[in-house]
Amino acid sequence: MRLAVVNLKGGTGKTTTAVHLAAGLARLGKTLLVDADPQGSALSWSEQAGLAFPVVALPVRDLHKRLPQLADGYAHLVLDTPPGDPAIVRSALLASEVALLPIPPSLMDLDRLRPTLELLAEVEPLNPLGVQVLLTRVRRGTKSAKAAREVLAELGLAVLEAEIPLREGYATAFGLVPEDLGEYEAALEELLVKPQPQPGSAGTQGVRG
Ligand SMILES: Nc1ncnc2c1ncn2[C@@H]1O[C@H](COP(=O)(O)OP(=O)(O)OP(=O)(O)O)[C@@H](O)[C@H]1O
Ligand SMILES: [Mg+2]
Repeated sequence: MRLAVVNLKGGTGKTTTAVHLAAGLARLGKTLLVDADPQGSALSWSEQAGLAFPVVALPVRDLHKRLPQLADGYAHLVLDTPPGDPAIVRSALLASEVALLPIPPSLMDLDRLRPTLELLAEVEPLNPLGVQVLLTRVRRGTKSAKAAREVLAELGLAVLEAEIPLREGYATAFGLVPEDLGEYEAALEELLVKPQPQPGSAGTQGVRG
């Protein structure tokens, strides 16, 4: 699987998601995590933790041109992408089969989704992607996740059943080997079985036109 973890808004759980999913995929096959974020959070995480899979930093706008050579021999690729750098994110999307959007179910995060959706819609004719949303930092016992699901469904986006709770264990996971993948286990299972949407039916139709 070639999976880009994207959201142009900062702090939505991209890096946490990318590291946990890469750890899960590494159990299934040779996996490379590409840190396309100039902030280098995933790379710092791996330097501190000694992860079971390699992490390379490649925060460049021609990632899609360089990646095939780099990816040779890997069964799975996970791309962690930066907030606020559409050119790099666009390149990461061009290099991927699946775009996973981690989104916390807050009004502010939903309100700031449009630039990411516009980028997905722009890339779709060039490289049709399966687009999936993963709700992250979900507060238990609140209605926000249900409300977010409704908003996202109206936008035509597919949302994974699995959701990642707001939990201290995730907040303090940076720099550690993720032994227990928690809810990311279920998210990964869903990603692995989801059929990829065909061109024209992907979840970006809500932002066209
Ligand atoms: N499920 C969670 N529960 C609690 N804290 C979380 C959870 N997921 C992420 N965090 C914390 O939220 C912050 C943002 O997460 P993360 O760095 O993964 O987001 P990001 O989208 O990669 O951010 P950036 O856009 O800056 O790269 C971090 O401090 C992280 O530890
Ligand atoms: Mg990050």
